[in-house]
Amino acid sequence: ATGVLLDQLARPLTDLRISVTDRCNFRCSYCMPKEVFDKDYQYLPHSALLSFEEITRLARIFASHGVHKIRLTGGEPLLRKNLEGLIEQLAAVRTPEGRPLDLTLTTNGSLLARKAAALKAAGLQRVTVSLDGLDDAVFRRMNDVDFPVAAVLAGIDAAHAAGLGPIKVNMVVKRGSNEDEILPMARRFRGTGVVLRFIEYMDVGATNGWRMDEVLPSAEVLRRIGEEFPLVPLEATAPGETAQRWAYRDGGGEIGVISSVTQAFCHDCTRARLSTEGKLYLCLFASSGHDLRPLLRGGADDAQIASAIGHIWQGRADRYSELRALRGPDTEAAGGARRVEMSYIGG
Ligand code: GTP
Ligand code: 5AD
Ligand code: SF4
Ligand code: SF4
Repeated sequence: ATGVLLDQLARPLTDLRISVTDRCNFRCSYCMPKEVFDKDYQYLPHSALLSFEEITRLARIFASHGVHKIRLTGGEPLLRKNLEGLIEQLAAVRTPEGRPLDLTLTTNGSLLARKAAALKAAGLQRVTVSLDGLDDAVFRRMNDVDFPVAAVLAGIDAAHAAGLGPIKVNMVVKRGSNEDEILPMARRFRGTGVVLRFIEYMDVGATNGWRMDEVLPSAEVLRRIGEEFPLVPLEATAPGETAQRWAYRDGGGEIGVISSVTQAFCHDCTRARLSTEGKLYLCLFASSGHDLRPLLRGGADDAQIASAIGHIWQGRADRYSELRALRGPDTEAAGGARRVEMSYIGG
């Protein structure tokens, strides 16, 4: 590819998030509520999934367009058989300048204790672990499959021991559900090198019954932590970053807040998302994607696929979270076309 690829709002494409499975062993109510994701739920059949070779081929083409960061997501990515094999292939991809990609993964941590060493050996650089609380009863209720918090903490320790760092921990904050875990989480990860990030509960998907009154604004999270541990703002490390970074004034490390509801960050969103079956989504809140599988399986060469991706990105004007905020702070989740589920497209 020649030149930088820009969309309709002059945003470059630098970040590709690849979902490797639409399945998960958790049933977090804000993502895969049990009533919807029950035993009759139709997950993608195996034949629909992109193979590791197909994913890697696309990654190489995206890298030629300027992507230098790849995040594997799910569902729960560690449920995909032999994920290490995919990581090995992706670790060999180079940017046009000859550099390896920033290769990372978002996991619920349940299988991390078992897999951390193999992931590192395969070439994974770091991991982000989702963890919504430290109190065992609260955590078991949030994941809704009675999964114990100790096993996730053991996964984080294993990732640390394997050298998968810097580790980030993501906590979705739901008012009335786990807000009392904010301070215990802050205390637990202060001074450990783990970067804890608090995520506003989002109106993503169509099944979680999102309501504005269950969102605890990041400003309130910062106020509560700041009362106990004074905070100072940090500069962004990269444009288009999801998190605003804050440091503990006493040197206890940093935290982040991801405020897509109260402070949308669409204006420099550089992220594209590839679904497990090869559809390219230009926004977390999109209702449809651009199917790349017919190209992959229909004999198109790399240049043709690169050109198709280029055109898709150049046509992009998505900025869902900003538009939602413009409609007013207290509006319900938007109606209209049924939005894609977070478990299908990854966080
Ligand atoms: P780092 O490079 O490690 O900082 O990763 P990241 O923040 O880009 O990715 P991560 O998967 O940790 O994202 C954290 C959370 O932010 C996700 O689970 C989503 O809830 C939210 N998020 C990520 N990207 C977007 C986005 O493009 N739009 C919106 N609205 N939310 C996003
Ligand atoms: N709001 C905010 N974050 C969400 N995630 C899933 N659903 C939501 C939601 N409704 C996040 C999880 C996890 C990642 C996979 O996506 O916290 O970190
Ligand atoms: Fe699974 Fe993550 Fe969704 Fe929870 S948030 S159900 S762990 S994919
Ligand atoms: Fe990007 Fe869409 Fe998220 Fe805005 S809402 S930051 S455009 S993914």
